[in-house]
Amino acid sequence: MDTGFWGRLERPIIGLAPMDGVTDAAYRLMTARHGKPSLFITEFVNVEGLARGAIKILRHLMYDESERYVVAQIYGVEPESFYKVALLVCELGFDGIDINMGCPADKIARRGSGAGLIRTPETAKALIRITKQAVSDWANGKTMEEAGIRPKIIREVKKFRDERRKNSDERRETRKINSSLVTRHSDVTRNLIPISVKTRIGYDRVIVDEWIKYLLEVSLAAISLHGRTFKQLYSGAADWEMIASAARLCKGTGTLLLGNGDIRSMEDAHAKIKSYDLDGVLVGRGTLGNPWFFVGKTPTPKEMAQAAIEHSELFEKLYPDSPFFPMRKHLAWYLKGFPGAKDLRVRLMQTNSAKEVKKLLSHEKDSGG
Ligand SMILES: Cc1cc2nc3c(=O)[nH]c(=O)nc-3n(C[C@H](O)[C@H](O)[C@H](O)COP(=O)(O)O)c2cc1C
Repeated sequence: MDTGFWGRLERPIIGLAPMDGVTDAAYRLMTARHGKPSLFITEFVNVEGLARGAIKILRHLMYDESERYVVAQIYGVEPESFYKVALLVCELGFDGIDINMGCPADKIARRGSGAGLIRTPETAKALIRITKQAVSDWANGKTMEEAGIRPKIIREVKKFRDERRKNSDERRETRKINSSLVTRHSDVTRNLIPISVKTRIGYDRVIVDEWIKYLLEVSLAAISLHGRTFKQLYSGAADWEMIASAARLCKGTGTLLLGNGDIRSMEDAHAKIKSYDLDGVLVGRGTLGNPWFFVGKTPTPKEMAQAAIEHSELFEKLYPDSPFFPMRKHLAWYLKGFPGAKDLRVRLMQTNSAKEVKKLLSHEKDSGG
């Protein structure tokens, strides 16, 4: 099986887990600048919405070259929409496609997508197959127009691609990057990109072995497994013994197994990979407020203040049409553990621009920290 970039990743694999409303382009760029995980996965993107022309969703598929390897995560339940969006993801130059089969949001699972797919393995397999078909058709030259993607979406995708091409040309000029990598990515050669799945150990009870065996029938490049059921949401502790059981089933099949759940440090990540004999892990909440997580660094308060400002500026630059309030939760995370920061935190929670954040934090940033 051709596992694409997954086969080229250095081991062990320690990637950033997708978190809707958190790991947007600004968060991922902060992490790419300071941390460098093995791979990034976008927030999940609804295929039905995008296939019907909801242009706003496209912003979740914005990424920077420095994130490579970067994977687009998609979810839904309609095969035709999976086909169209998988083809579009190929056009955007992603390194892989991940299908979400683990989201515990009630309204998503009840419609049969996300974790709901654990209950309908035949549908899950059909969606993987149609996604593979789209990737293969695209590699053989199928265009977005031929796939019936809405013209306004095609226009936006082309704009994004042109923008990226321009940026990498500029980068090459200014930094004298003479790399075939840049050419390959900006021009998007029609390679088959690998498909992976991110899921949970069961729906209302643990059925990990049964479920993983189903998934292995459609030869995926990788499976990321959160050690909780749908019913558990985020309660209790992730069950790493069940993750280890899934890893044993994947051994020798060509499908990689990444564990996920409750990892709080790089030491913890390495220890879990070793103890449970895994190809790697994904880390989500452990990275909140720490873009240095993946280099194992504990930043000083001064560095935290600098990061909060840098992140706010990136957020404004990348989302010029968005209000500022989605940024505030990140500011709170940056300030966790800041000495005597209660009053500062209260004031940061009322900010409406990077400029205001900078003004409030300039003292912290300049202090010895
Ligand atoms: C706010 C939030 C949003 C999430 N959004 C997604 C998502 O879009 N796609 C996905 O596969 N998992 C999503 N997850 C699940 C995480 O990727 C991960 O599986 C889970 O948080 C457990 O890992 P952790 O303990 O390292 O955070 C989300 C989790 C959180 C907390």
